[in-house]
Amino acid sequence: MKIAVTFSSKAGLEAEHRNHHRSGEECEVSADFFAEGDSPETIAAVLDALQQQGHQTIGVEADEHAAEALRRNRPDLVFNMAEGLYGDFRESYIPMLCERLALPYTGSDPLTLALCLNKARTKEILRYYLLPTADFRMIQHTSQIDSLDLEGPVIIKPLAEGSSKGIFNDSVVFDPIEARQRIAEKLKIYRQPVIVEKFLGGREFTAAVWGNGPEVTVLPLVEICYHQLPMGAQPIYSYEAKWIWDTPNRPLEIFHCPAPIDEGLAGRIESVVLNTYRVLGLRDWSRIDIRLDENDIPNVLEVNPLPGILPRLEDNSCFPKAARAAGYSYSGMLQKIIAIAARRHGISLNTSAQDENSDRLQSTDSRDAGQSAGSYFRISG
Ligand SMILES: Nc1ncnc2c1ncn2[C@@H]1O[C@H](COP(=O)(O)OP(=O)(O)OP(=O)(O)O)[C@@H](O)[C@H]1O
Ligand SMILES: [Mg+2]
Repeated sequence: MKIAVTFSSKAGLEAEHRNHHRSGEECEVSADFFAEGDSPETIAAVLDALQQQGHQTIGVEADEHAAEALRRNRPDLVFNMAEGLYGDFRESYIPMLCERLALPYTGSDPLTLALCLNKARTKEILRYYLLPTADFRMIQHTSQIDSLDLEGPVIIKPLAEGSSKGIFNDSVVFDPIEARQRIAEKLKIYRQPVIVEKFLGGREFTAAVWGNGPEVTVLPLVEICYHQLPMGAQPIYSYEAKWIWDTPNRPLEIFHCPAPIDEGLAGRIESVVLNTYRVLGLRDWSRIDIRLDENDIPNVLEVNPLPGILPRLEDNSCFPKAARAAGYSYSGMLQKIIAIAARRHGISLNTSAQDENSDRLQSTDSRDAGQSAGSYFRISG
């Protein structure tokens, strides 16, 4: 098959940022500003794995040239992992183009992508369907701070970000004065509304999910345990925990997969996860973050329809981690996602990749992809 891999590289996001400020207006950015960009290693690992499966691949940066690149190349399938940088609908950009060009693509549709990027809207829908999610308020302007009626502890998050952008150790606050200060700071830095959410102190899990219709499957749950974080750190998977304290040279030992939990709790988490997948209209694959409340009820923290897929074991990327625990190498994981999307589109896979289980691991150790990753190329219009 000819597969276009659409991505938002860190360099591409920097260019998007420069374009956004074409007027020459100075704009300082926070240290986490480009957190959601795909690294060259991830892009190369995906392209390498698909090539080794016998696919012809095209790498497409999700910039203003993407439409032309897709139109000219007309791939059989678009493997979409592009998250973009600006705008509430940035994750929908490639899916919208694909819809317009009638190209099949992996993952959720533009509506679901935009919805899940907006944590408040996501939570409103979950509430409508009586799925547990923490109480929250959305604050758009500092003038709303004084009428805030949530009691601490709370966590303050930018409305529409991922990769823990804007979620630092100081995002958990315990008193109203500190909360007001923090909200004002975050509104200023991230230039978007924030949500102030009841802090849930229970165990935390993330669930990788794939499939469609009756074939939706939850992969082995990943538990994130916080007692090994540095002294004084809040028990959250913050920006510091994700990107500063956890490095490939010194990976944090805070993940357990499969999560060591009894069947009852696993069943309750899976039920919330599957219902969330269904009511939000998720397709092909996703990762759903869960935290237990004081009554051990699994609450949905947020939903990631474009989960991170860093290739190396030491990257501690949770979707590949769960896939590995289910017996899939990095390459096998990609092959499975493509097979799921292809089946949904009614496309037959006539390459060596036909059997989506053929790349299942014999052992669970897979430092496979990313190691041989060569350079990727970028198509421009
Ligand atoms: N209401 C909450 N109660 C307790 N902890 C929370 C809550 N909301 C978020 N957290 C903590 O903050 C972390 C990051 O929050 P969240 O998952 O919303 O951010 P994100 O940037 O969208 O993450 P991702 O990297 O998965 O895209 C969570 O993994 C969890 O540890
Ligand atoms: Mg998360």
